[in-house]
Amino acid sequence: MTDTSLHFPDGFLWGASTAAHQIEGNNVNSDWWRKEHDPAAKIPEPSLDACDSYHRWEQDMDLLAGLGFTDYRFSVEWARVEPVAGTFSRAEIAHYRRMVDGALSRGLRPLVTLHHFTLPQWFEDRGGWTADGAVDLFARYVENCAPIIAGGVRHVCTINEPNMIAVMAGAAKAGDHGFPPAGLPTPDEDTTHAVIAAHHAAVKAVRAINPGIQVGWSIANQVYQALPGAEDVTAAYRYPREDVFIEAARGDDYIGVQSYTRTKIGPDGPIPAPQDAERTLTQWEYYPPAVGHALRHTADVIGRGMPLIVTEVGIATSDDTRRVDYYTGSLAAVAAAIDDGLNIQGYLAWSALDNYEWGSYKPTFGLIAVDPVTFERTPKPSAVWLGNLGRVRELPRTTT
Ligand code: NOJ
Repeated sequence: MTDTSLHFPDGFLWGASTAAHQIEGNNVNSDWWRKEHDPAAKIPEPSLDACDSYHRWEQDMDLLAGLGFTDYRFSVEWARVEPVAGTFSRAEIAHYRRMVDGALSRGLRPLVTLHHFTLPQWFEDRGGWTADGAVDLFARYVENCAPIIAGGVRHVCTINEPNMIAVMAGAAKAGDHGFPPAGLPTPDEDTTHAVIAAHHAAVKAVRAINPGIQVGWSIANQVYQALPGAEDVTAAYRYPREDVFIEAARGDDYIGVQSYTRTKIGPDGPIPAPQDAERTLTQWEYYPPAVGHALRHTADVIGRGMPLIVTEVGIATSDDTRRVDYYTGSLAAVAAAIDDGLNIQGYLAWSALDNYEWGSYKPTFGLIAVDPVTFERTPKPSAVWLGNLGRVRELPRTTT
């Protein structure tokens, strides 16, 4: 079935996203690096050199700009900028500033994430997010990012997926590092409060650096779908895992929406997808319209006036044709939401590169393949297709 396409709203962000630890390589002062080398943590594979993007970021940006993208979301690595508490590396700050300038000079508008899951080891050692003084320490780091973001950066994301940070802390506290067969572990409440406070402090710090920056944070949305009669159970289940973080974005300049799949909820809680459901390499149900639901839910919680940016959406698959199908369905859902009046201001695919998926290189989310030995980059057909939509400035409404 084919429909007419939708012209991009003015200023629409069209890009791809990455995160420092997942692509840079050798992030040796981070908590994740330490965990990856701790046999007790049972991490299947360490990140090691990752995509070597710490040295090859120019090539990554050349490819993205050449493909037709106009926006690039990447993160600044706290563990590099502040490897020792209170000691800020001028060289690393200059490195990330060169990335901002490099993006701008290629016609890519940078959306800069300040914290994407990894912490400096010293911050973890002093107790992480819930320790006394953690919020001030994060705010001090953000203040020290001023040379990176003060000029030329329009969008900053303070903290990526704070709800997943709280969920992981909850899982760790419960002494169970595994996830249930469906749904997510109960988030740790203290961590929830701490990351919300850290976000608010960071928003203030970013605005003090440059009040022209649009600042927000990005929430992981699991698209909880209530089975008949389970509406209240679903709302109660979702609130601490999602809505409390969406509400905390009130007063921000935009909110980032990230979504990959859905979770059905019955009267007794989350229900695994049926055995015969198509699954991706992360074992998530293949469900392209997820992001449309996520955008609508976010707008319902925070109010229709809040600008929404899809800061991540994508699929882990070795079948690139299926990736195009997924994005086609996802974009149709975004176009329909725009038609319905939602204030959607951008769409950034996860991910620019096949990268380190938190413990394994197997789930390939990338638009661009990366040879693990030579680091050679090869854009996949999906990258050419998606990038080209940026040139024609149209969102397809075609569904497959
Ligand atoms: C969310 C996270 O922000 C990102 O780091 C991760 O790789 C993707 N989703 C896929 O799981």
